This record gives sequence, structure tokens and C-alpha cells, in this order.
Amino acid sequence: MRFQGKTAVVTGGSSGIGRGTVDLFLREGATVVMGDIDEAEGTAMMSALGEKFYFKTCDVTQEDQIKALMDHAAEQTGGIDIVFNNAGAGGPRDAIDEISGDDWDFAMALLLKSVAMGIRHAMPHLKKRGGGAIVNTSSICAFHAGYGPIAYSVAKAGVLHLTKVAAAELAQYKIRVNAICPGFIQTNIFAATLGANEEEKAQINTLIGQLGATTQPVARPGIPDDIAEAAAYLASDAAGFVTGTHILVDGGILTGPQSSWDPETPGMLDAMIADDAK
Ligand SMILES: NC(=O)c1ccc[n+]([C@@H]2O[C@H](COP(=O)([O-])OP(=O)(O)OC[C@H]3O[C@@H](n4cnc5c(N)ncnc54)[C@H](O)[C@@H]3O)[C@@H](O)[C@H]2O)c1
Repeated sequence: MRFQGKTAVVTGGSSGIGRGTVDLFLREGATVVMGDIDEAEGTAMMSALGEKFYFKTCDVTQEDQIKALMDHAAEQTGGIDIVFNNAGAGGPRDAIDEISGDDWDFAMALLLKSVAMGIRHAMPHLKKRGGGAIVNTSSICAFHAGYGPIAYSVAKAGVLHLTKVAAAELAQYKIRVNAICPGFIQTNIFAATLGANEEEKAQINTLIGQLGATTQPVARPGIPDDIAEAAAYLASDAAGFVTGTHILVDGGILTGPQSSWDPETPGMLDAMIADDAK
């Protein structure tokens, strides 16, 4: 019961990583206030999850709605101790030579400004509590090309730097700020980004699971609980000496090329030597 007596605000908790985190935080004793654009699912969760769960419709591209979510959380529960700025989607998939300025702005609003404003509007409530913990969802896309669309990747890299600078600025208030960089996690984000229908969704989720299991050292699909556990650690007192940094939760996919961890895959050098010997 790491979060007994604490209130956590989670954005994007109707699905995937956010949903897994809502469930874990509730199991750990928190009161959870969740904001999401998926009103139907959020309302259904209110009936299913009991009196320590609150939902407010919130589009994180709209600053006034983020402020309303934070104010609502404090009014309903007495304050805010933990914020998980997690809502997101793949956003526009155009390459840099084709993307429109409006699409770029949308991606930044959804994935980067949303996190900044999540921090901004939680601050009055966190300060009143005399401290707290903020966790932001970044991505492996922040480190390398090729894992996601360019605007998404740039925004996620921005989340990492925002995390670091905000941690420095907010340490004086006993507020820690950290990020999580998930690898491939089996959620609806891929199907949603591709505009898939219900039938295609299941196929895409299976494919993502297979992709994870075959392209990373930890040979199984990443699941929302993997990220929820990292969020819980960073939000908890156990991470009291941890701020301004990130945790990679990616099954090791960024450790190195497949040949570095898969004995069946020859390295580039091995392949060249073998070719030369022929
Ligand atoms: N799944 C992965 O492999 C992966 C990898 C790296 C990072 N992430 C990040 O994890 C976070 C959660 O994604 P997920 O994989 O759980 O996807 P998901 O699609 O399962 O969940 C995303 C949630 O965010 C909500 N959302 C989308 N746009 C919103 C908006 N404008 N306002 C409020 N809520 C909104 C959706 O309704 C949904 O509930 C995102 O920030 C995503 O970029 C995911």
C-alpha cells in the first residue's frame, strides 16, 4: 500500500499504460483522478472501480481542460500528491519533407505542451501538499530514429529535457520529476495511430507482441504493467533520491543491434569476415 492516503492524477488512463497504472495505483491505496478524451470508457471505469476512482473528461491538447482536471482532483480529494502525465497518441506520421505546420503543432500540443501544462497546473496543488512526485511518459523514440514518426519522436525527446529542467526548478518545493521511456508495449496506440477498425486492432496488437518478442533481448511482449511498475516506483518514497532522470523500460531493445544479444544473428563484422573467406 505504497500510496495510502495519497491522490494521484493520471492522464490517458482509459487504455493501455495509463489504465495499467490506474489499476496499480488503486491497488497500492491511492485515490486516483483520471483524465482522458474517452468519456465512455472513463465513465464505465467510474462504475467499475469504486469510490476511490474519479474521472473527468480532459483533452490534454487544451490547457483549460488540464487546469480543470487538476483543480477538480484537488477539490474532490483534498489535494494532489502524484501526477502521471501520460496521455498520448502516435499523431501525424508524415516525414519531415511533407509534414504541415499545423500537424507539427498538434503533435507538440498533444505530446509535449500537455506535459508542461500538466506540471504547470498541478503545481499550486502540489505546493500546498509540501511536495510530490511527477512522472512523465516519454519513449525510446526520444533516443533513436526509426521507432516512431518524427514529430512524435521530437516531442518525446522534449519530454525528457522538460523533465530534467522542471526537476531542477521544482526541487525547492520537494517535488521530484522523472520520466519513463517505454519500448514496444502492447496497447491500442498502434491501432489508433493507423486508424484501424476493431477487427484489425486485435491483429495489430498480436503483431506488436510478436515484434517485441523477436526484436529485443527480453523475448516477450512488453505489457502495460511493466510501465505501471516503473511509474509506481518513481512516484513512491522509494525513489526519494531520484529526480531529473528517466527509466528505460524497453526489454533491452536499445542495448544494441540484434547481433549483440542474439547468438543466431551474425554481427556486421562476422558477416564481412564470412563473405571474405568465401
Ligand atoms: N505503447 C507503446 O509501445 C508506447 C511506447 C512509448 C511511449 N508510449 C506512450 O505511452 C503513453 C500511453 O500510450 P499507450 O501505449 O498506453 O496508448 P493507448 O492508446 O492504449 O492509451 C492512450 C490513452 O491516451 C488517451 N488520449 C489520447 N489523446 C488524448 C488527448 N488529446 N487527451 C486526453 N487523452 C488522450 C486515449 O484515449 C487513451 O486512453 C503515450 O504517451 C504514448 O506515447 C507508448
